[in-house]
Amino acid sequence: MCGILGLCLADQTANAAPELFEGSLFLQHRGQDACGITTSGPKGRFYQCKGNGMVREVLTKERLSNLVGNLGIAHLRYPTAGSSAGSEAQPFYVNSPYGISMGHNGNLVNTKQLRKYLDEDVHRHINTDSDSELLLNIFASELQKSNKSRVNNDDIFEALKGLYNICRGAYACVGLLAGYGLFAFRDPNGIRPLLIGERHNQNGTTDYMVASESVVLKAHNFNKFRDVLPGEGVIINKSGTVEFKQVVPLKSYTPDIFEYVYFARPDSVLDGISVYRTRLAMGAKLAENIKNLDIVDQIDVVIPVPDTSRNTALECAVELNKPFREGFVKNTYVGRTFIMPDQKKRVSSVRRKLNAMESEFANRNVLIVDDSIVRGTTSKEIVNMAREAGAKKVFFASAAPAIRYNHIYGIDLADTKALVAYERTEEEVAKVLGADQVIYQKLEDLIDCVKIEEKDRTITHFEVGVFTGNYITGVEDSYLQELEEVRAQNQKLSIQSAATSDANAKAEADIGIYNMGDYK
Ligand SMILES: *[C@@H]1O[C@H](CO)[C@@H](O)[C@H](O)[C@H]1NC(C)=O
Ligand SMILES: *[C@@H]1O[C@H](CO)[C@@H](O)[C@H](O)[C@H]1NC(C)=O
Ligand SMILES: *[C@@H]1O[C@H](CO)[C@@H](O)[C@H](O)[C@H]1NC(C)=O
Repeated sequence: MCGILGLCLADQTANAAPELFEGSLFLQHRGQDACGITTSGPKGRFYQCKGNGMVREVLTKERLSNLVGNLGIAHLRYPTAGSSAGSEAQPFYVNSPYGISMGHNGNLVNTKQLRKYLDEDVHRHINTDSDSELLLNIFASELQKSNKSRVNNDDIFEALKGLYNICRGAYACVGLLAGYGLFAFRDPNGIRPLLIGERHNQNGTTDYMVASESVVLKAHNFNKFRDVLPGEGVIINKSGTVEFKQVVPLKSYTPDIFEYVYFARPDSVLDGISVYRTRLAMGAKLAENIKNLDIVDQIDVVIPVPDTSRNTALECAVELNKPFREGFVKNTYVGRTFIMPDQKKRVSSVRRKLNAMESEFANRNVLIVDDSIVRGTTSKEIVNMAREAGAKKVFFASAAPAIRYNHIYGIDLADTKALVAYERTEEEVAKVLGADQVIYQKLEDLIDCVKIEEKDRTITHFEVGVFTGNYITGVEDSYLQELEEVRAQNQKLSIQSAATSDANAKAEADIGIYNMGDYK
C-alpha cells in the first residue's frame, strides 16, 4: 500500500512542490518507509527528490526549493513487493521515450511474466526488485510503439490500453510525461483508490489534483472531485486541458475492503463510501453478533486499541449499551525511533506504543476491539497488558473476519503461515492470544457495512482475498512463492541491519536528475 499524489497548476510560473509536500503529509499514514516528489515545468526538465524516511525527514525546505515547475507527482511508500532499499523509493524515472516519471500504488501479480517480456522482447533493463519499475517500463515500451517524435493524447491512451492488456494486479498510478503533462490511471478492477479533483482560480483557470484519498483534495480546496473509474485514464496536458477516457471496459468494481477496515483515513470518502461510516457500521454489526453470545452479560466495558478501531469500538459500545473507555493510551511520539539492541528485549514494540491504565481494567471483564488480527503478536501482547492491568476476563473482537490468506495487492501483512488464524479455529486463536474469547466479524456483515447501492453508484463486491483466498485478478502459485521469498529476504536484511550499529542510517535523499537553477 502506498500513497500517490499529482498536481497540475494552471499558472505555469508557479511551483507545485510546496502543495505536493503539504498533500503528502495528509497521506503519510499510507506509507512511512520512503517518499519522493518529481516536478516539471512546460519545458519538460524533471526535478526530483526521494529517499527513505518520512515526508518531513526527506523533503526538507531546502530540498523542496530545488523542485521547480507547475506540474508534479508525489509518492509515499509502504514496503510491499520488492525490498526496502533506498534505491526503490519512488517516483521512478525512465528517459526513453520522451522522459517519464511515475508513482504506483498497488502490486502486480504477473511479475515473472513481465520481467521476462521486458528482458527478452523489448530489451529494457530493470534495475530494482520493484514491480513499480516493471509497470513504468511496460508503459514506456507501449508508448514507444507509437514511433513518433511527439505523441498526443490518443497515443498515450493507446499505450495505456497496451499496459492494461499486459499487467495484471492492482495499480493506481500517476505520472509525468516530460514537456507534455500529467497522466493517471486505475486498474480495471479498481482495487486501489484514486480520485481526481479540480480547483477554480479567480481568473477562470483550473488546477487539477490526483490523489489516493479524498482528504487531500478537500484540504487543498479541490472541492469538485470524483473517483477515477476502474480501467479509466486521465491526461492533463501542460495547457491545462483535461481528457478522460475509459481505456478498457471495467472488469469489475471491487475496491480492496482493507482500505475501509484499516488503511484509509476515517475522514476519506473512497469510491463514494465514507470510511468513517463503514467503521461505525462495523461496530454496530459486531455488537449485533455479540448480543447473541452468552458473554454479553459479562462485559463490563468496551475498550478500543487506538487509533483505527476507536470509531468501531465506540459504536459497538453504544449498541451494546456498555460503557466505552480509553483503556490504552498511545504514545504518539514513539514513531520509528531506532531500538538499541539491549532495549528490544525489555520492552516490546507494542508496549513502547501503548500504555494500559489500571483504573480502566482492574476487576472488569473487558471487550477489547481492534480493526483486525494479523500475526497475533500485537493482539497477544495487548491481552497480556490488559491482564496485567487487572482485567478479569478479556474478550477480543476484530472488526475484520479472520485473516487466513496472503494480501497480494500491496498491503504486506505476513506470510500465510505466519497469520495467527492460518489453519486455526476461533477457539484456537483465542488460546494463542490468551483471550477468553475471540469474536470475528462475519465476512457477509463486513461487506454489508461497506457496500453502497445508490442511483448512480452500486458497489456490492470487494476484493476480499485475505479472508477467502480467492483473488479478484487470479494469481499464480509462483507469485505467492515469490512474495514469500522476498519477505524472507527483507527479514534477513532488516535483521542484518538491526545487528549493525548504523542500523537506521537513512538512504541519502537522491536529489536529482537535473535541478540546477530555475530552468523550467
Ligand atoms: C491567472 O492568474 C495567474 C496568477 O495568479 C497568472 O499567472 C495567469 O497567467 C492567469 N491566467 C489567465 C488566463 O489570466
Ligand atoms: C518509425 O518512424 C520512422 C520515422 O518516422 C520510420 O522511418 C520508421 O520506419 C518507423 N518504424 C516503424 C517500425 O514503424
Ligand atoms: C492540450 O489539449 C487540448 C485539447 O486536446 C489541445 O487543444 C491543446 O493544444 C493541448 N495543448 C498542448 C500544449 O498540447
